[in-house]
Amino acid sequence: MSFLTVENVHHSYFSPKTVTTALQNINFDLEEGEFISLVGPSGCGKTTMLSILSGLISPTEGKVQIDGQAPNSRNSSIGYMLQQDYLFPWKTIEENILLGLKLQNQLTDNRISKTLELLKEIGLEGVEKQYPRQLSGGMRQRAALVRTLAINPKILLLDEPFSALDYQTKLKLEDLVFETLKSYRKTAVLVTHDIGEAISMSDRILLFAAKPGRLHKIFKVPEELRTIRPFDVRSKETYSILFQKVWKELESLEFDG
Ligand SMILES: Nc1ncnc2c1ncn2[C@@H]1O[C@H](COP(=O)(O)OP(=O)(O)OP(=O)(O)O)[C@@H](O)[C@H]1O
Ligand SMILES: [Mg+2]
Repeated sequence: MSFLTVENVHHSYFSPKTVTTALQNINFDLEEGEFISLVGPSGCGKTTMLSILSGLISPTEGKVQIDGQAPNSRNSSIGYMLQQDYLFPWKTIEENILLGLKLQNQLTDNRISKTLELLKEIGLEGVEKQYPRQLSGGMRQRAALVRTLAINPKILLLDEPFSALDYQTKLKLEDLVFETLKSYRKTAVLVTHDIGEAISMSDRILLFAAKPGRLHKIFKVPEELRTIRPFDVRSKETYSILFQKVWKELESLEFDG
């Protein structure tokens, strides 16, 4: 069985007067160590899908299993990283990145030194005693990534983590996150509006359509692109070909909608 399975998931949001169907009949699998991206027009249910995978909300119908279990947001096996870094401004970077371990009573010397080591690997050595406001946006996102990885999650859910960054920082962080996740063999689901980012970072791309949110098409990224750094992917011919394909498909959806 696959590491992650999504079976006939349907989700509606209810308010006293309206029902919004955010997701309809969603089915897909994910293997351990695989990296997938969710792309699609605004409102097609990408964030809802991540919230379901994280266990923050339960789908109105259907079933999700991660490593044989239903997702549970109180469980440390799922790391969820959002567009905004959500670092606590009154805590130092060190306190912020150790917070997850502290909440889980796992603040051992070994875990602390591993987390500080990761901070170093990600290029943030020396900022331990600083506060988030003293760091740039890209540095804060890197610190947020360290905090997410510190609890050693089995799967990472990333909701547009680079979208608030300038283009250059974004490209650099894509490489860094790609390499960090590959070296720790993490399974990941990335939500992005950027087709180039989806192609350069993932093994597969799931294109969602809106109204109601549904899985429209799955694109496999060619093997030759999957093994190289995101930055280098962008200069390959097969990258441009796939970009055109995904772009056209996305355009046809927006036109229909
Ligand atoms: N808490 C909520 N209550 C009611 N409706 C919601 C709620 N969250 C999302 N929706 C609705 O569900 C649909 C899917 O929303 P969702 O945020 O999952 O889309 P998205 O693909 O992440 O969009 P975006 O690309 O703009 O972030 C939308 O129609 C949205 O208005
Ligand atoms: Mg969203």
